[in-house]
Amino acid sequence: MKINSGHGGGHASRDVFNNPEIFVDKFDGPDRDEWQKPDEVIRSFKLRDDSIVVDIGAGTGYFSVRLAEQVRNGKVICFEQASKMAEHLQNRVRDLGLTNVEVRSDGTDGVFLLEKQADVIFSVDVYHHIQDPKRFFAEVAQNLSTGGVLVVIDRTEEKIEGQPTGHRVPAEKVIEEMRVAGFELVEKLDFLLPVQYYLSFKRTQ
Ligand SMILES: C[S@@+](CC[C@H](N)C(=O)[O-])C[C@H]1O[C@@H](n2cnc3c(N)ncnc32)[C@H](O)[C@@H]1O
Repeated sequence: MKINSGHGGGHASRDVFNNPEIFVDKFDGPDRDEWQKPDEVIRSFKLRDDSIVVDIGAGTGYFSVRLAEQVRNGKVICFEQASKMAEHLQNRVRDLGLTNVEVRSDGTDGVFLLEKQADVIFSVDVYHHIQDPKRFFAEVAQNLSTGGVLVVIDRTEEKIEGQPTGHRVPAEKVIEEMRVAGFELVEKLDFLLPVQYYLSFKRTQ
């Protein structure tokens, strides 16, 4: 299945993110772990050794490469819209010898998803780039297994020194848009505050 991120904005963010070298320091900088708490985020996913986990907008692979260790008999599927970013991630995965990480990008606005196989689908700092999230996530919903979980982590509206400014989508808006897309909120966790909110959802149908 092919899904589209909507009208217009997909192009803008693709252009920006088609320069992976600019983003490596930002996304994989040594100070990120402090506020991103990757171990806690990954623990919250409650993965099995054979889980299938999907990283939407994987970027340079900050989460994807860490996840590979957790699902040794499963798979990490990375969807990355920007083709050069996807290429960068593909090279990183190859250099690290990770055989259970798959990078997908069609180089346009869309990604190809699974059919009801994913145990966890998540996005970190991607939601605010998606132009038509209701449509995008309605299609994403079709790829979650029964009992599967969607996690959206994105920026709060706090202005924090050293953190990027720019377009933000309040958590309440995400919850409402996800309701329209066919998801109900399961948990709102606050361990990433004040930088990011953490919302987990399950399918309503
Ligand atoms: C701010 S970066 C976050 C990268 C990564 N999730 C992280 O936390 O390090 C946003 C990424 O999402 C990608 N992206 C934006 N819209 C997307 C879409 N509709 N489908 C797939 N990737 C998308 C961008 O190309 C970019 O690499």
